[in-house]
Amino acid sequence: MRRLRTTAAMRRLVSDTTLLPTDLVAPLFVREGLSEPKPVLSMPGVMQHSRSSLLAEVKSLVDLGISGIMLFGIPETKDATGSQAYDRDGVTQVALREIREAFGDELVVMSDLCVDEFTDHGHCGIINDEGHVDNDATLDLYAEVAIAQAEAGAHVVAPSGMMDGQVFAIREALDEAQFPDTSILAYSAKYASGFYGPFRDAVEVEIAGGGDRKQYQQDWRNSRDGLEEIRLDLSEGADMVMVKPAMAYLDVLIQARAEVDVPLAAYHVSGEYSMIKAAASNGWIDGDAVALESLTAIKRAGADFILTYFAREVAEQF
Ligand code: PBG
Repeated sequence: MRRLRTTAAMRRLVSDTTLLPTDLVAPLFVREGLSEPKPVLSMPGVMQHSRSSLLAEVKSLVDLGISGIMLFGIPETKDATGSQAYDRDGVTQVALREIREAFGDELVVMSDLCVDEFTDHGHCGIINDEGHVDNDATLDLYAEVAIAQAEAGAHVVAPSGMMDGQVFAIREALDEAQFPDTSILAYSAKYASGFYGPFRDAVEVEIAGGGDRKQYQQDWRNSRDGLEEIRLDLSEGADMVMVKPAMAYLDVLIQARAEVDVPLAAYHVSGEYSMIKAAASNGWIDGDAVALESLTAIKRAGADFILTYFAREVAEQF
């Protein structure tokens, strides 16, 4: 109704969706061996953090009222099985311990659980003799990583590798290792997306031979497949589920919202962030306004919380 749009106060009163800093989770990168933060060129405003700049960043996010972080570690050395992903002194585990020591339970500390940042071939699992990712061998690896991350203090582990059965394997491993309270946020409907481009710079991942992840991540022509992945992950013990990317998949998000009653997350990914940044830096769009509009749309479609590289900037607008 036009009458209900006449003043800012009226528009606020009748709005059905309000985005708040508490709805946001900031993905953060920590790079082993850095003494100061290093900008990610394809993601203006985003850094690979050193151990100390990471803690400073978490502090300011907490002060802004952000609910949580999703941590990605980038190791100095990579190998075929991604062993730094579960090494007790691996970059992610060290950072998790330092964050929990400094901030305790002031925010929700989530850890991305995958091995592509740690493998020399850049795939999310162990490669077999035919050059394909070996699903079941990878499950054992994920179980190790889950225990290492939980031991280091992650409140939430977030498997993003799209192996069948990964949630079950991780839940079982966590329970056996006496981490019954560590929750699982499953990257359930995760598409083999071109929107992850800038992220690969951020984590220094190149897939061997110019390969892709189409054999394990979802085909973006499909929506029902996304819902099936969500149902499977819930039956395997996921506490929360996620749709990723966000803007091009709002239909999947709406359907997921209609179907599940657990907390539902969406990941506004690197390419979605960088496109807005690039257009804004050319003066073609108002970056702050478009960021707020995009994230509000994701919440309107049904997300309970949103992982976004805009977390800090949007929270600063409040
Ligand atoms: C896998 C992972 C990826 C992202 C999050 N976890 C990359 C991939 O699946 O290739 C992408 C996030 C983004 O683009 O912002 N470890």
